[in-house]
Amino acid sequence: MSARVRPAIAEATARLAAASVASPRTDAELLAAFVLGVPRGRLVLADDFTGAQAAAFAALVGRRAAREPLQHLTGSVHFGGVDLAVGPGVFIPRPETELLVDWATKIRDLGAKRPPSEITDLGAGAVVLDLGSGSGAIALAMAHAWPDARVVAVEQSPAALAWLRRNAAARKEAGDTPITVVEGDATDLATTAAWRGRVDLLLSNPPYVPDATPVPPEVADHDPAAAVFGGPDGLDVIRRIVTLGLDLLRPGGRVAIEHDDTHATAVVDLLAGRYTDAAMHRDLAGRPRFSTARRP
Ligand SMILES: C[S@@+](CC[C@H](N)C(=O)[O-])C[C@H]1O[C@@H](n2cnc3c(N)ncnc32)[C@H](O)[C@@H]1O
Repeated sequence: MSARVRPAIAEATARLAAASVASPRTDAELLAAFVLGVPRGRLVLADDFTGAQAAAFAALVGRRAAREPLQHLTGSVHFGGVDLAVGPGVFIPRPETELLVDWATKIRDLGAKRPPSEITDLGAGAVVLDLGSGSGAIALAMAHAWPDARVVAVEQSPAALAWLRRNAAARKEAGDTPITVVEGDATDLATTAAWRGRVDLLLSNPPYVPDATPVPPEVADHDPAAAVFGGPDGLDVIRRIVTLGLDLLRPGGRVAIEHDDTHATAVVDLLAGRYTDAAMHRDLAGRPRFSTARRP
C-alpha cells in the first residue's frame, strides 16, 4: 500500500504540534525528505510513499513526537559548510555556533582592514584550537574554510570522541585538510602543552548553561549533560578557558567563547583587564551569543 506524501506530512505536522515540537511542519517535511532520499525543496514533486517508506515515516514521526532530536533520526547535521554525523553521546551542533565560526573565518579580513601595527599574522600555518570539540563542528568548519590552517580539536568524552574521529576521517576523505584530535581535559594545560604560546585562534563552545536552567526534552534526554551544563552560574569551564588562553595564545592571538544569553556581561568582564579588545557579540535577535578578546 502506498500513501500520498502531502496528507502524510499534514498528519505528521499535527501529531508533532500536539507533542509540543517547536517546528512541527519543518520537522515533518525534513523527515519525509529523509525517507524519500530527496532534498526538502524537491518534496513538492513527490507523490507517493511506498509501503515501506510510509511505515518508516510513521515510525520516525512517532520517535520525533517522543522528542527524540530530529538530527538523531536523520543521523546528520549541516554546520559551517560541512555535513557532520551525529547521534547518541554527542552534542548536536547548533546554528548559533555558526556565528562564532563566521567571526573566526573573517579574522583575516578584519586584519586586512586594520592599521599595519595591528594586523594579526594569520598566514599559512595559523594554529586554531577548538576546546570541547564534540562532533568536531567548529574545528572541521574551520579546516574547511582555512585549508592552510593547523586545526586542533580537544575533547574528553569517549562517546563524543568516536563521533569526532569519524567526522574528521570523513572530512579528510572529502578533501579537507586533516585536523589533529587530542583526547583529554581541555581545561588542563597539560593536554595542550605542545601548543603553549603558539595558538593564533582559541575557539570554544563549552558547556555553559547554568545548572538549574530548565531545558526541553531533546536536550535533557539526548544531549550529554557534560556538554550542556557549566555549574551554578554556567561559567565553570569558561573561567578555566579564560585563564588557560593567556598561556596558550601567542601575543596578539584571539579567543572566542560562546556563552549563555544570560551572560551579557559576565564573560566580557572575565576577559577585560587580562586581555585587550574584549567584546560581546549578539545574534540577529539581539541575544548575547559569544565574546572575543586578544592576548596582549
Ligand atoms: C556545548 S558542547 C559543544 C560541542 C561542539 N564544539 C559544538 O559546538 O557542537 C561542549 C563539548 O565540550 C566537551 N567538554 C566539556 N568539558 C570538557 C573538558 N573539560 N575538556 C574537554 N572537553 C570538554 C563536552 O564533552 C562537549 O562535547
